[in-house]
Amino acid sequence: MSNRFEGRVAIVTGAGNGLGRAHALGLAARGVKVMVNDLGGARDGRDASTSPAEAVVQEIRAAGGEAMANGANVARFEEVQAMIAAAQNAWGRVDILVNNAGILRDATFARLSLDDFWAVMDVHVRGTVNCTKAVWDLMREQKYGRIVLTSSASGIYGNFGQSSYGTAKAAMVGLMNVLHMEGDKYDIRVNVLAPTAATRMTAGLIPEHAMKLMAPESVTPGVLFLVGDDAPSKVILGAGCGVFTRNFVYETEGIYLPESERTPEVIAARFAEISNAERLTALESATHQTLRFVDKATAAAKTAYDQ
Ligand code: NAI
Repeated sequence: MSNRFEGRVAIVTGAGNGLGRAHALGLAARGVKVMVNDLGGARDGRDASTSPAEAVVQEIRAAGGEAMANGANVARFEEVQAMIAAAQNAWGRVDILVNNAGILRDATFARLSLDDFWAVMDVHVRGTVNCTKAVWDLMREQKYGRIVLTSSASGIYGNFGQSSYGTAKAAMVGLMNVLHMEGDKYDIRVNVLAPTAATRMTAGLIPEHAMKLMAPESVTPGVLFLVGDDAPSKVILGAGCGVFTRNFVYETEGIYLPESERTPEVIAARFAEISNAERLTALESATHQTLRFVDKATAAAKTAYDQ
Protein backbone atom coordinates (compact mmCIF):
# COMPACT_ATOMS: atom_id res chain seq x y z
CA MET A 1 0.00 0.00 0.00
CA SER A 2 1.31 3.42 -0.90
CA ASN A 3 -1.29 5.62 0.77
CA ARG A 4 -0.06 9.16 1.07
CA PHE A 5 -2.07 11.29 3.45
CA GLU A 6 0.55 13.90 4.29
CA GLY A 7 -0.38 17.29 2.80
CA ARG A 8 -3.82 16.20 1.60
CA VAL A 9 -6.77 18.47 2.35
CA ALA A 10 -10.04 17.11 3.73
CA ILE A 11 -13.47 18.46 4.55
CA VAL A 12 -15.34 16.50 7.20
CA THR A 13 -18.93 17.62 7.76
CA GLY A 14 -20.66 17.30 11.11
CA ALA A 15 -17.23 16.86 12.66
CA GLY A 16 -17.88 18.61 15.96
CA ASN A 17 -19.10 15.42 17.59
CA GLY A 18 -19.25 11.65 17.33
CA LEU A 19 -18.05 9.94 14.20
CA GLY A 20 -17.12 13.11 12.31
CA ARG A 21 -14.90 14.24 15.17
CA ALA A 22 -13.13 10.85 15.20
CA HIS A 23 -12.66 10.99 11.40
CA ALA A 24 -11.27 14.54 11.57
CA LEU A 25 -8.82 13.57 14.33
CA GLY A 26 -7.85 10.38 12.48
CA LEU A 27 -7.18 12.25 9.23
CA ALA A 28 -5.23 15.00 11.02
CA ALA A 29 -3.10 12.39 12.80
CA ARG A 30 -2.03 11.19 9.33
CA GLY A 31 -0.95 14.69 8.30
CA VAL A 32 -4.15 15.69 6.48
CA LYS A 33 -5.22 19.36 6.76
CA VAL A 34 -8.80 19.23 7.92
CA MET A 35 -11.71 21.61 7.55
CA VAL A 36 -13.80 20.69 10.57
CA ASN A 37 -17.39 21.55 9.70
CA ASP A 38 -20.23 21.55 12.16
CA LEU A 39 -23.13 23.84 12.75
CA GLY A 40 -22.86 22.60 16.30
CA GLY A 41 -25.16 22.95 19.24
CA ALA A 42 -28.32 21.05 19.85
CA ARG A 43 -28.81 17.39 19.02
CA ASP A 44 -31.06 18.17 16.09
CA GLY A 45 -28.57 20.65 14.68
CA ARG A 46 -30.74 23.76 15.06
CA ASP A 47 -28.15 25.81 16.96
CA ALA A 48 -25.86 27.71 14.61
CA SER A 49 -22.77 28.06 16.88
CA THR A 50 -19.50 26.66 15.57
CA SER A 51 -18.07 25.83 19.00
CA PRO A 52 -17.95 22.00 18.72
CA ALA A 53 -16.00 22.36 15.48
CA GLU A 54 -13.65 24.84 17.12
CA ALA A 55 -13.04 22.46 20.02
CA VAL A 56 -12.04 19.72 17.56
CA VAL A 57 -9.73 22.15 15.76
CA GLN A 58 -8.06 22.94 19.10
CA GLU A 59 -7.55 19.21 19.72
CA ILE A 60 -5.98 18.77 16.29
CA ARG A 61 -3.69 21.77 16.73
CA ALA A 62 -2.66 20.63 20.22
CA ALA A 63 -1.54 17.35 18.64
CA GLY A 64 0.52 19.24 16.05
CA GLY A 65 -1.98 19.03 13.17
CA GLU A 66 -3.48 21.65 10.90
CA ALA A 67 -7.21 22.39 10.88
CA MET A 68 -9.85 25.07 10.45
CA ALA A 69 -13.35 25.28 11.85
CA ASN A 70 -16.35 26.01 9.70
CA GLY A 71 -19.96 26.47 10.79
CA ALA A 72 -21.75 25.99 7.46
CA ASN A 73 -25.12 24.34 7.47
CA VAL A 74 -24.58 21.68 4.81
CA ALA A 75 -28.18 22.03 3.70
CA ARG A 76 -27.42 25.57 2.44
CA PHE A 77 -25.45 25.59 -0.78
CA GLU A 78 -24.07 29.15 -0.48
CA GLU A 79 -22.64 28.32 2.96
CA VAL A 80 -21.11 25.13 1.60
CA GLN A 81 -19.60 27.00 -1.35
CA ALA A 82 -18.06 29.53 1.03
CA MET A 83 -16.64 26.66 3.11
CA ILE A 84 -15.01 25.03 0.08
CA ALA A 85 -13.65 28.41 -1.06
CA ALA A 86 -12.15 28.95 2.41
CA ALA A 87 -10.40 25.55 2.26
CA GLN A 88 -9.10 26.29 -1.24
CA ASN A 89 -7.88 29.75 -0.25
CA ALA A 90 -6.03 28.39 2.75
CA TRP A 91 -4.70 25.14 1.35
CA GLY A 92 -5.02 25.36 -2.44
CA ARG A 93 -7.05 22.17 -3.01
CA VAL A 94 -9.58 19.73 -1.59
CA ASP A 95 -8.65 16.07 -1.91
CA ILE A 96 -11.06 14.38 0.46
CA LEU A 97 -14.69 14.97 1.35
CA VAL A 98 -16.26 13.00 4.16
CA ASN A 99 -20.00 13.66 4.14
CA ASN A 100 -20.91 12.83 7.70
CA ALA A 101 -23.31 15.49 9.05
CA GLY A 102 -26.62 14.03 10.05
CA ILE A 103 -29.71 14.25 12.23
CA LEU A 104 -32.43 11.88 13.36
CA ARG A 105 -36.16 12.58 13.73
CA ASP A 106 -37.48 9.10 14.48
CA ALA A 107 -41.23 8.43 14.36
CA THR A 108 -43.36 5.74 12.80
CA PHE A 109 -44.58 6.73 9.36
CA ALA A 110 -48.10 7.11 10.78
CA ARG A 111 -46.90 9.72 13.31
CA LEU A 112 -44.14 11.32 11.27
CA SER A 113 -44.72 14.90 10.18
CA LEU A 114 -43.78 15.72 6.63
CA ASP A 115 -41.73 18.63 7.99
CA ASP A 116 -39.59 16.18 9.94
CA PHE A 117 -39.28 13.86 6.95
CA TRP A 118 -37.96 16.67 4.76
CA ALA A 119 -35.72 18.05 7.54
CA VAL A 120 -33.93 14.70 7.65
CA MET A 121 -33.73 14.55 3.85
CA ASP A 122 -32.40 18.11 3.84
CA VAL A 123 -29.38 17.39 6.03
CA HIS A 124 -28.48 13.95 4.67
CA VAL A 125 -29.46 14.16 1.02
CA ARG A 126 -29.36 17.88 0.20
CA GLY A 127 -26.35 18.35 2.50
CA THR A 128 -24.39 15.52 0.90
CA VAL A 129 -25.32 16.60 -2.61
CA ASN A 130 -24.42 20.24 -1.83
CA CYS A 131 -20.98 19.37 -0.47
CA THR A 132 -20.25 16.87 -3.21
CA LYS A 133 -21.39 19.25 -5.95
CA ALA A 134 -19.27 22.04 -4.44
CA VAL A 135 -16.06 19.96 -4.69
CA TRP A 136 -16.88 18.04 -7.88
CA ASP A 137 -15.49 20.46 -10.47
CA LEU A 138 -12.30 21.11 -8.58
CA MET A 139 -11.72 17.40 -8.02
CA ARG A 140 -12.25 16.84 -11.75
CA GLU A 141 -9.80 19.63 -12.56
CA GLN A 142 -7.13 18.34 -10.19
CA LYS A 143 -7.86 14.78 -11.37
CA TYR A 144 -8.02 13.51 -7.81
CA GLY A 145 -10.81 13.13 -5.31
CA ARG A 146 -11.94 10.82 -2.55
CA ILE A 147 -15.52 11.09 -1.38
CA VAL A 148 -17.25 9.21 1.42
CA LEU A 149 -21.02 9.24 1.74
CA THR A 150 -22.27 8.19 5.16
CA SER A 151 -25.14 5.76 4.91
CA SER A 152 -26.44 3.43 7.60
CA ALA A 153 -27.66 -0.11 7.97
CA SER A 154 -31.01 1.65 8.34
CA GLY A 155 -30.82 2.68 4.69
CA ILE A 156 -29.75 -0.77 3.57
CA TYR A 157 -31.92 -3.03 5.76
CA GLY A 158 -34.39 -0.65 7.46
CA ASN A 159 -35.11 0.17 11.10
CA PHE A 160 -38.53 0.54 12.66
CA GLY A 161 -39.47 4.23 13.00
CA GLN A 162 -36.80 5.43 10.57
CA SER A 163 -38.65 5.96 7.28
CA SER A 164 -37.10 9.42 6.85
CA TYR A 165 -33.61 8.37 7.88
CA GLY A 166 -33.78 5.09 5.94
CA THR A 167 -34.86 6.89 2.78
CA ALA A 168 -32.09 9.45 3.12
CA LYS A 169 -29.46 6.83 3.86
CA ALA A 170 -30.49 4.60 0.94
CA ALA A 171 -29.99 7.65 -1.31
CA MET A 172 -26.28 7.54 -0.48
CA VAL A 173 -25.97 4.21 -2.29
CA GLY A 174 -27.75 5.58 -5.36
CA LEU A 175 -25.55 8.66 -5.44
CA MET A 176 -22.38 6.59 -5.02
CA ASN A 177 -23.27 4.22 -7.86
CA VAL A 178 -23.54 7.06 -10.38
CA LEU A 179 -20.72 9.29 -9.11
CA HIS A 180 -18.41 6.28 -9.15
CA MET A 181 -18.98 5.99 -12.90
CA GLU A 182 -18.82 9.70 -13.64
CA GLY A 183 -15.76 10.29 -11.45
CA ASP A 184 -13.78 7.30 -12.66
CA LYS A 185 -11.88 9.03 -15.45
CA TYR A 186 -10.81 11.84 -13.08
CA ASP A 187 -9.59 9.48 -10.34
CA ILE A 188 -12.48 10.51 -8.13
CA ARG A 189 -13.39 7.52 -5.98
CA VAL A 190 -16.70 7.43 -4.21
CA ASN A 191 -17.59 5.06 -1.41
CA VAL A 192 -20.29 4.57 1.17
CA LEU A 193 -19.71 4.04 4.88
CA ALA A 194 -22.35 2.25 6.93
CA PRO A 195 -21.14 2.85 10.48
CA THR A 196 -22.44 2.01 13.89
CA ALA A 197 -21.11 3.82 16.93
CA ALA A 198 -21.95 5.14 20.36
CA THR A 199 -22.65 8.84 19.80
CA ARG A 200 -25.30 11.41 20.69
CA MET A 201 -27.30 9.92 17.86
CA THR A 202 -27.45 6.46 19.40
CA ALA A 203 -27.52 7.53 23.07
CA GLY A 204 -30.44 5.82 24.79
CA LEU A 205 -31.03 3.48 21.84
CA ILE A 206 -28.28 0.97 22.61
CA PRO A 207 -27.60 -1.05 25.80
CA GLU A 208 -24.76 0.22 28.05
CA HIS A 209 -22.47 -2.83 27.62
CA ALA A 210 -22.66 -2.56 23.81
CA MET A 211 -21.96 1.20 23.90
CA LYS A 212 -18.53 0.47 25.41
CA LEU A 213 -17.51 -1.52 22.32
CA MET A 214 -18.81 1.08 19.94
CA ALA A 215 -16.32 3.94 20.13
CA PRO A 216 -16.46 6.15 17.01
CA GLU A 217 -12.67 5.68 16.77
CA SER A 218 -13.30 2.02 15.94
CA VAL A 219 -14.97 3.15 12.68
CA THR A 220 -12.44 5.76 11.53
CA PRO A 221 -9.80 3.35 10.11
CA GLY A 222 -12.49 2.31 7.62
CA VAL A 223 -12.88 5.92 6.50
CA LEU A 224 -9.11 6.29 6.15
CA PHE A 225 -9.10 3.19 3.96
CA LEU A 226 -11.88 4.66 1.80
CA VAL A 227 -10.07 7.98 1.24
CA GLY A 228 -6.45 6.91 0.77
CA ASP A 229 -4.57 7.01 -2.54
CA ASP A 230 -5.26 3.30 -2.94
CA ALA A 231 -8.93 3.59 -2.02
CA PRO A 232 -11.43 1.35 -3.75
CA SER A 233 -14.50 2.89 -5.39
CA LYS A 234 -18.18 1.95 -5.21
CA VAL A 235 -17.69 0.03 -1.99
CA ILE A 236 -20.22 -0.09 0.82
CA LEU A 237 -18.15 -0.62 3.95
CA GLY A 238 -19.83 -1.57 7.19
CA ALA A 239 -17.87 -0.54 10.29
CA GLY A 240 -18.40 -0.66 14.03
CA CYS A 241 -16.84 -2.12 17.19
CA GLY A 242 -13.68 -2.79 15.17
CA VAL A 243 -15.66 -5.05 12.83
CA PHE A 244 -15.47 -4.29 9.11
CA THR A 245 -17.82 -5.79 6.55
CA ARG A 246 -18.80 -5.21 2.96
CA ASN A 247 -22.28 -5.04 1.49
CA PHE A 248 -23.08 -6.18 -2.01
CA VAL A 249 -26.18 -5.90 -4.16
CA TYR A 250 -26.74 -8.95 -6.33
CA GLU A 251 -29.40 -10.10 -8.73
CA THR A 252 -30.65 -13.66 -8.95
CA GLU A 253 -30.39 -15.58 -12.20
CA GLY A 254 -34.15 -15.34 -12.61
CA ILE A 255 -36.38 -17.01 -15.14
CA TYR A 256 -37.66 -16.19 -18.59
CA LEU A 257 -41.37 -16.52 -19.17
CA PRO A 258 -42.75 -16.90 -22.69
CA GLU A 259 -45.64 -14.55 -23.46
CA SER A 260 -48.32 -17.14 -22.76
CA GLU A 261 -47.00 -17.62 -19.22
CA ARG A 262 -46.60 -13.96 -18.23
CA THR A 263 -49.26 -13.94 -15.55
CA PRO A 264 -49.09 -13.13 -11.84
CA GLU A 265 -50.17 -16.72 -11.16
CA VAL A 266 -47.15 -18.16 -12.97
CA ILE A 267 -44.83 -15.67 -11.27
CA ALA A 268 -46.30 -16.72 -7.90
CA ALA A 269 -45.90 -20.40 -8.74
CA ARG A 270 -42.29 -19.91 -9.77
CA PHE A 271 -41.36 -17.28 -7.19
CA ALA A 272 -39.03 -19.69 -5.38
CA GLU A 273 -37.09 -20.13 -8.64
CA ILE A 274 -37.02 -16.37 -9.22
CA SER A 275 -35.69 -15.97 -5.68
CA ASN A 276 -33.14 -18.77 -5.91
CA ALA A 277 -29.91 -17.22 -4.64
CA GLU A 278 -27.56 -19.98 -5.81
CA ARG A 279 -26.45 -18.05 -8.89
CA LEU A 280 -26.03 -14.37 -8.19
CA THR A 281 -24.70 -11.63 -10.44
CA ALA A 282 -23.27 -8.28 -9.39
CA LEU A 283 -24.36 -5.83 -12.07
CA GLU A 284 -22.10 -2.99 -13.13
CA SER A 285 -24.90 -0.64 -14.12
CA ALA A 286 -28.61 -0.42 -14.86
CA THR A 287 -27.82 -0.88 -18.54
CA HIS A 288 -26.05 -4.11 -17.64
CA GLN A 289 -29.36 -5.41 -16.26
CA THR A 290 -31.24 -4.46 -19.42
CA LEU A 291 -28.68 -6.20 -21.62
CA ARG A 292 -28.82 -9.25 -19.41
CA PHE A 293 -32.60 -9.44 -19.78
CA VAL A 294 -32.38 -8.95 -23.54
CA ASP A 295 -29.74 -11.72 -23.76
CA LYS A 296 -31.80 -14.08 -21.67
CA ALA A 297 -34.98 -13.44 -23.65
CA THR A 298 -33.09 -13.75 -26.96
CA ALA A 299 -31.50 -17.04 -25.89
CA ALA A 300 -34.88 -18.39 -24.76
CA ALA A 301 -36.54 -17.33 -28.02
CA LYS A 302 -33.74 -18.99 -30.02
CA THR A 303 -34.08 -22.20 -28.01
CA ALA A 304 -37.84 -22.18 -28.69
CA TYR A 305 -37.22 -21.52 -32.42
CA ASP A 306 -34.61 -24.31 -32.66
CA GLN A 307 -36.96 -26.86 -31.13
P1 NAI B 1 -23.74 13.07 16.01
O1 NAI B 1 -25.08 13.65 16.26
O2 NAI B 1 -22.84 12.78 17.17
O3 NAI B 1 -22.94 13.99 15.01
C1 NAI B 1 -23.54 14.55 13.87
C2 NAI B 1 -23.01 15.95 13.72
O4 NAI B 1 -23.58 16.53 12.54
C3 NAI B 1 -23.40 16.86 14.89
O5 NAI B 1 -22.23 17.41 15.46
C4 NAI B 1 -24.29 17.92 14.26
O6 NAI B 1 -24.14 19.21 14.84
C5 NAI B 1 -23.82 17.89 12.82
N1 NAI B 1 -24.84 18.41 11.92
C6 NAI B 1 -26.16 18.13 11.91
N2 NAI B 1 -26.78 18.82 10.95
C7 NAI B 1 -25.82 19.53 10.31
C8 NAI B 1 -25.85 20.45 9.23
N3 NAI B 1 -27.00 20.75 8.60
N4 NAI B 1 -24.69 21.01 8.82
C9 NAI B 1 -23.51 20.72 9.47
N5 NAI B 1 -23.44 19.87 10.52
C10 NAI B 1 -24.58 19.28 10.93
O7 NAI B 1 -24.02 11.76 15.15
P2 NAI B 1 -23.05 10.57 14.69
O8 NAI B 1 -23.62 9.34 15.27
O9 NAI B 1 -21.64 10.89 14.88
O10 NAI B 1 -23.42 10.51 13.14
C11 NAI B 1 -22.52 10.83 12.11
C12 NAI B 1 -23.06 10.27 10.81
O11 NAI B 1 -23.07 8.84 10.88
C13 NAI B 1 -24.48 10.70 10.49
O12 NAI B 1 -24.61 10.88 9.11
C14 NAI B 1 -25.28 9.51 10.93
O13 NAI B 1 -26.52 9.45 10.29
C15 NAI B 1 -24.36 8.38 10.55
N6 NAI B 1 -24.63 7.14 11.25
C16 NAI B 1 -24.41 7.03 12.58
C17 NAI B 1 -24.65 5.83 13.21
C18 NAI B 1 -24.35 5.62 14.64
O14 NAI B 1 -24.50 4.47 15.10
N7 NAI B 1 -23.95 6.61 15.39
C19 NAI B 1 -25.23 4.68 12.48
C20 NAI B 1 -25.37 4.89 11.08
C21 NAI B 1 -25.09 6.09 10.50
